[in-house]
Amino acid sequence: MFTPPLESIPADLVSLSDYARYAKQHLPTPIYEYIAGGGADEISLKRNRDAFDRLLLQPKVLRNMSQGQTQSTLLGSPLRYPALLAPVAFQQLAHPEGELATARAANALDTGMVVSTLSSTSMEQLAETLEGPKWFQLYFQQDRDFTLNLVRRAEQAGYSHLMVTVDAPLHGIRNRAQRAGFQLPEHVRAVNLDDRPPLPRKVLEPDQSIVFQGMMSEAPSWSDINWLQQETRLPIILKGIMHPDDALQAKQMGIAGVVVSNHGGRTLDCVPAAFEVLPEIRQAVGTDYPLLLDGGIERGTDIFKSLALGANAVMIGRPQIYALAVAGALGVAHMLRVLREEFEVTMALAGTPTLADISAQCLWQPK
Ligand SMILES: Cc1cc2nc3c(=O)[nH]c(=O)nc-3n(C[C@H](O)[C@H](O)[C@H](O)COP(=O)(O)O)c2cc1C
Repeated sequence: MFTPPLESIPADLVSLSDYARYAKQHLPTPIYEYIAGGGADEISLKRNRDAFDRLLLQPKVLRNMSQGQTQSTLLGSPLRYPALLAPVAFQQLAHPEGELATARAANALDTGMVVSTLSSTSMEQLAETLEGPKWFQLYFQQDRDFTLNLVRRAEQAGYSHLMVTVDAPLHGIRNRAQRAGFQLPEHVRAVNLDDRPPLPRKVLEPDQSIVFQGMMSEAPSWSDINWLQQETRLPIILKGIMHPDDALQAKQMGIAGVVVSNHGGRTLDCVPAAFEVLPEIRQAVGTDYPLLLDGGIERGTDIFKSLALGANAVMIGRPQIYALAVAGALGVAHMLRVLREEFEVTMALAGTPTLADISAQCLWQPK
């Protein structure tokens, strides 16, 4: 059995990892395992977190902080502080109000939300609800006309950016979710895909691979990204970049920015933490190219470290779902406030009044 969502925040719930702990009591085990889990042996999932913990700060004191502030603009979207809610599918798994509750919390805390293709609430309803930055995350569909249909709907609904996820043309090896017997319950579905035309049944020859000739045969490639650029005027951001060559290619093609991400350790296992590859990607694309980072962000110090190594902003994945499960919109709003305050406290104690003051010099380099 599991506990229904709380209506107030308990006194001992003070950090994002507390939400992860509480969420276990508020979710059926298979759903918790699906959300919390990563790919295969979860080496990358664990590494996402460990990479942050390994790096330490070296503060400077007695700075004048009276003009301190955390605002910035990312690709034309104003950010109250440099964090967005990452696209997370099927949020009605965690709470009956699902993405609507998350969107209300995003409004209350002035935080941008990236709406998933696989949201369990329609992208139109979410666009109406969201008051701040509205970004839509696109998964290419096998049927290119239907992909374009999603893009047109996003444009019409008023989304300002398309974040195209490129690291998950198929699911990773999700052993933890498999062991827990996770299945999508009947009442939760990807409503944006309701009108998707039925896929033609593909019959494979015995010597053909279900991965290469089956699932991957329709997977998008760089030429599809180029096609999308011709079809829409919305800025495109590629999510799931881990190699400097890919980041550079995106930049050279006129892609607006990239998200350095290993999908929260949920797709290919045995890759480094996104945070570990951030410096080489920043170096490849130069100082001015917009870079986001996600994977393992749980503390204000994690946001600070990400900015110090070259990210312009970060995205928060699992903690939003844990907070949603624990206390609905109230939980997500509280979680975001905790994170924002932690980030401000970090800036203040590290001696960096503005985002521009945060650099690699704020990190401790063992001599
Ligand atoms: C339950 C769950 C569902 C997700 N759904 C999507 C999705 O629909 N689209 C997408 O691009 N990424 C999706 N992601 C990945 C997140 O956007 C993000 O990259 C990742 O969660 C960041 O790591 P973190 O959870 O450690 O913060 C999902 C992640 C989780 C945990």
